[in-house]
Amino acid sequence: MNNFSFENQTRIHFGEGQISAITGEIPSDAKVLVVYGGGSIKSNGVYDQVVSALKDNTWFEFSGIEPNPKYDTLIKALPLIKQHGIDYILAVGGGSVVDGCKFIAAAALFAGDDPWDIVAKQAKIEAALPIGVVLTLPATGSETNIGSVVTRNGTKLPFMDPLVRPQFAVLDPAVTLSLSDRQISNGVVDAFIHTMEQYLTYDVKGKVQDRFAEGLLQTLIEEGPKALAEETKTDLDVRANIMWSATMALNGLIGSGVPQDWSTHMIGHELTGEHEIDHARTLSIVLPAVMKVCQQAKQGKLLQYAQRVWHITEGSDDQKIAQAIKLTEDFFQSMGMPIRLSDVDLNESNIDCLVKRLEQHGMTALGENKDITLDVSRQILQQAI
Ligand code: NZQ
Ligand code: ZN
Repeated sequence: MNNFSFENQTRIHFGEGQISAITGEIPSDAKVLVVYGGGSIKSNGVYDQVVSALKDNTWFEFSGIEPNPKYDTLIKALPLIKQHGIDYILAVGGGSVVDGCKFIAAAALFAGDDPWDIVAKQAKIEAALPIGVVLTLPATGSETNIGSVVTRNGTKLPFMDPLVRPQFAVLDPAVTLSLSDRQISNGVVDAFIHTMEQYLTYDVKGKVQDRFAEGLLQTLIEEGPKALAEETKTDLDVRANIMWSATMALNGLIGSGVPQDWSTHMIGHELTGEHEIDHARTLSIVLPAVMKVCQQAKQGKLLQYAQRVWHITEGSDDQKIAQAIKLTEDFFQSMGMPIRLSDVDLNESNIDCLVKRLEQHGMTALGENKDITLDVSRQILQQAI
């Protein structure tokens, strides 16, 4: 196992009715900016619960953060923060709202000239406003991690800083009942692929990390389809298991002390930036192709995945791996996800542009061995057709 330092100080309030816990989390003299997206929180009752929990605070609101949050939208929150002396940000929504709030929190106290440098130049931030989260879509893990992804003019880039890790997060599975099937599927598959990007590399004898990861994958495979099926759609235990899996998949725990890949995400970001495909739907297209093209480097872990996650014991090593990849694709399809570029109306003619974008963004040595060059990314995209 590799050396690591691990901490995650986000306090989690999990379960039905926990939005009221905000009252004890945010100091009553704090001036709060409640930040949300396109309005789903108004129709599912989350907004009302938040308003009730903030009864002792002075608060303002900023809405309209879109999926794949845009820089141009986020910076509009900055004058509001200055004008009202905001000192706490409450993100109410999915990963896009949480990521957007992380950028706003850092940009509000940024000492440099141009807040875009936080993302584009990975400029060091010295301070950020404190963030609390009411999560409405289990997927990204953003509610307890230090990452954020921001888009500007079609360029989608991440930044990471411990200063933007949320102070607390409310995870109420009941608020996920209003999600569309598409968003449920996106969330389950995003969490699945976060787990895979930290698991499907090479063996460093990280048994705890491996078995945690395999448990998360199996939970998502079991519970994901139940959240779509009529008879189990409103089962809160199903929603709770999905929600907790998504948080655990990207809170730093399973990635500590083990190699990580993230090539699927980096290639996927270009698909979203260029073609506006939902984040998770880019991943379900790219991951099977990464598994095939990088089979040799990932051989040991692919076999472990086949045996422990899919219980495949018959056949040669190559047959076991091929079957595990097929079952992974079947799982994605059972969740209504695309698994090929052709499923989203893209083809060979789109690949040059995607490879060029990877180059522009410095994504020239991806993967756990940094050997996914632009040529290999091209092979992956060709494999995905
Ligand atoms: O805007 P509203 O009206 O709230 O609607 C949203 C949005 O349209 C809707 N929604 C959310 N909760 C709902 C709901 N609708 C009904 N009921 C609810 N309870 O869902 C739509 C999608 O929301 P979004 O926040 O965009 O989805 P998600 O959580 O999947 O976030 C995706 C973003 O996170 C980034 C992605 O790149 C993408 O920009 N990621 C962030 C990561 C991180 N910070 O660690 C890691 C991930 O890999 C990912 O890259
Ligand atoms: Zn993701």
